[in-house]
Amino acid sequence: MYIRERRRFVAMSLAAITLGACAETSVRPRQLAGADPARGRDAAERVVCAACHEIPGIAWPRGRMGGSLAGFGGRPLIAGRLPNQPDILVRWVRDAPSLIPGTGMPPQDLSPAEARDVAAFLYTLE
Ligand code: HEC
Repeated sequence: MYIRERRRFVAMSLAAITLGACAETSVRPRQLAGADPARGRDAAERVVCAACHEIPGIAWPRGRMGGSLAGFGGRPLIAGRLPNQPDILVRWVRDAPSLIPGTGMPPQDLSPAEARDVAAFLYTLE
């Protein structure tokens, strides 16, 4: 009996988290307190995200394998699978395989602060 109650509690908690996630994806613009999109653009240039992505505001290179990031700020999902929310995006840009094992996007040489700046920059790509 106790176990069944507990299971139901876990299921309801998960449902609440999932619904919360859905609600949050519709909030725009997405906020990253203290993050700076201009610094993020520079960090993205330094680690050469554009080797694999076309990125508005970064002229060269214009890699193709990761897809264009034009309009990324308006997309509901990251890599078609993860909710496009600030905390998840920050983790994604630094260490995508920790979220989707086997993804074609390798971990990036960004500090935690730089990852927040890069995420803020990506949210300017409307
Ligand atoms: C070696 C190539 C490579 C590099 C370098 C790279 N990415 Fe990616 N990126 C990918 C691939 C491949 C995907 C698709 C991943 C998937 O679908 O599993 C991806 C997906 C993404 C996505 C999700 C796009 C979408 O349409 O949902 C974002 C955002 C992203 N990358 C940002 C970055 C940023 C920012 C950098 C630099 C810090 C970067 N990437 C560096 C290969 C790369």
